[in-house]
Amino acid sequence: MAGSDGAKGAYPSFSSRIAFIIVTAGSAVGLGNVWGFTYVAGQNGGGGFVLIYLLALAFVAAPAFMAELLIGRMGKASPPTAFTKVGQMANSRFPWASVGWMGLMGTILVLSFYAVIAGQALYYGLVAAEGGFAGWTEAQITGLDAGFRAAPGWMLFWAALFMALTAVIVSFDIRTGLEKAGKVMMPALLLILLGLMVYAGQTGDMAQAVDFLFGFHQMTLTPRLFLEAVGQAFFTLGVGVGGIMTYGSYMGRDVNLPRATLWIVAMDLFVALAAGLAIFPLVFSSGVSAAAGPGLVFMTLPLIFTEIPGGAVVAFVFFLLLAFAAITSSISLLSPTVARLEEAGWSRRKGAFTMAALAVVISLFTIMSFAGWRDFYPLEALGFEGMTAFDLIREGVSNFVLPVSGFAYAVLVGWVLSRPSVREALPMQEGMGFKLWYAIIRYITPLAIAALFVNAVFG
Ligand code: PHE
Repeated sequence: MAGSDGAKGAYPSFSSRIAFIIVTAGSAVGLGNVWGFTYVAGQNGGGGFVLIYLLALAFVAAPAFMAELLIGRMGKASPPTAFTKVGQMANSRFPWASVGWMGLMGTILVLSFYAVIAGQALYYGLVAAEGGFAGWTEAQITGLDAGFRAAPGWMLFWAALFMALTAVIVSFDIRTGLEKAGKVMMPALLLILLGLMVYAGQTGDMAQAVDFLFGFHQMTLTPRLFLEAVGQAFFTLGVGVGGIMTYGSYMGRDVNLPRATLWIVAMDLFVALAAGLAIFPLVFSSGVSAAAGPGLVFMTLPLIFTEIPGGAVVAFVFFLLLAFAAITSSISLLSPTVARLEEAGWSRRKGAFTMAALAVVISLFTIMSFAGWRDFYPLEALGFEGMTAFDLIREGVSNFVLPVSGFAYAVLVGWVLSRPSVREALPMQEGMGFKLWYAIIRYITPLAIAALFVNAVFG
């Protein structure tokens, strides 16, 4: 446990069990729940997709989430270093650190598009603060989205601002930065979402939304649909890049890891479904198509705000909170690389701003995909037809990097580490709960991921 915390010498930790749960739930709950879930479910036809997503969550992503926390708890270091330590504990000669490094690359790639979407939320917050949305027409709202996406310099500005905010929070020590941010932003987010859902139920077409999300529809189950559902399950929990592992390394010994996992997964699922039930009623009562893509949340929610009294205020609060949800996730995405740089002697501040700047540079790929490269499909020749650079980055991370890491976590925890060492680190009695999770992480999680890839390649 040699000191990563510089002067104090002790490895840093969150101040309490509840702080750990809130901050880690903050990592899970993010743009993926509100923006991502609704747009991916919308594009994939609703019901059947949601069912596969739930199965993927229960049998693949959530067990892997617990494994990631466990490796963090056992390794108590940045992901590459934690992997090396845990691999050594198990006398494994596999270069486990490589999985950690792949995750670190993944964090920066996620941040590169996360910053652009979150930047749009910040910008919409400003529009609302200036009194926007109230009394606007539908055309004005779709026009605002189109106008934003046509202005690369403007998108870059807001993405950079978002990353600067993220870097400031991560610069502080974890109890002052990460922990305070989560404690303020998470409860507020939940309250607002609840309010919006109730409102959507009163004004929008709730019955059609429920049918869309949970009803049975005729649909073709393609390998790609499965991949998208699993990718979304990983992304929404934030599993597979080492952010959860880094938070796991800051978790106190008093945290009951399985119980904490249940709480966090439940909260994450609740937010995604609530967001669906807040957004789809308005999609169906407006003219916007459910399959509108990444802009969905920026076209439908503002429609509520045009009609309600004090709509500009509600809009402001909503976009601020969308930005909050994004920030509690982006700080967890910046933390693993900063932890690794700290091990190399860097200050938190220098590490945070350097990695944030790198993410902003890479964000140009997403920005250009929304603007001038809208119809440019870089890897078309390789069979990725109709996919922009943004599509390739988002799907490449969600549907490839995250599941591959999840596979590695499952193998390390289920097969390489001894059963007693895993049980002791949880810590958990060898009861039904343990047996169930252990069987899932050993067999179901890795086999499901392997089958998915085989199917995606040859299917
Ligand atoms: N879980 C976050 C979301 O749903 C995104 C995220 C991905 C966070 C990977 C951490 C790590 O928006």
